[in-house]
Amino acid sequence: MQSESHRRVLDSADFYRTLAEEFVHRAAEAIEAHGRFRVALAGGSTPKPLYGLLAAKEFNARVAWAHTEVFFSDERCVPPDDARSNFRMAADALLKHVPLPANQLHRMRGEDDPALAALSYRQELAAAFRTVSVPRFDLILLGLGENGHTASLFPGTAALREFLRSVVPQYIEAQQEWRLTFTRPILNAAHQVWVLACGTAKAEIAQRVLEGRFEPEVLPAQYLAPVAGKLIWWLDAAAAARLAAVAVATE
Ligand code: 6PG
Repeated sequence: MQSESHRRVLDSADFYRTLAEEFVHRAAEAIEAHGRFRVALAGGSTPKPLYGLLAAKEFNARVAWAHTEVFFSDERCVPPDDARSNFRMAADALLKHVPLPANQLHRMRGEDDPALAALSYRQELAAAFRTVSVPRFDLILLGLGENGHTASLFPGTAALREFLRSVVPQYIEAQQEWRLTFTRPILNAAHQVWVLACGTAKAEIAQRVLEGRFEPEVLPAQYLAPVAGKLIWWLDAAAAARLAAVAVATE
């Protein structure tokens, strides 16, 4: 399979419901293919309504949680009950409301020393995927920052040039905080990577990343290119408003 990049532009009203349906489909596809659905959740605010929908009565029984393993593509180095924690956001919106077995939930330990937390997560990934090479996720969810970052791959940081370790600690000057983040090798090993961007605030950065000059050190989301997988940009009409070639969600 070659690297594929797709754009799906959705009406704002349909954005999260379509994503929830596609998530259910992706989970079923992965479980059908190899008995497991391994997904890495994104942090930030964009995915929260998706998590809420997946937790709702309409959807929560449609994912085979017994065959699902949940990971995180990045985390802030804060305790799990901190308001900034990606884990806390996902737990409150989704994980507390679905029957995911506790040993199939893989939290990044934001409360620990960043380097040790990154090491232990790399070990946890190796054990969960039973591999010493790069774990290949069925799905990695990501957001898009207004400065072009994704996961916690921020412009000009050393994490952008990490090719050996799948998860690293990275101090983010702009945020004055340590983060843990997936790196390019694990992101680009995935079967599918979905970048979620919605709202007018993301229109300019979406246009720069998708149609502007290729400058990934400045716009890290431009490094996303699954080697043998599919990259899907999910945008609502507002976030896609500045795109020249607006592909309409058809497939
Ligand atoms: C985080 C995310 C980060 C996020 C973007 C977009 O830990 O915050 O990993 O990469 O996806 O900053 O954030 P919003 O969805 O809140 O716009």
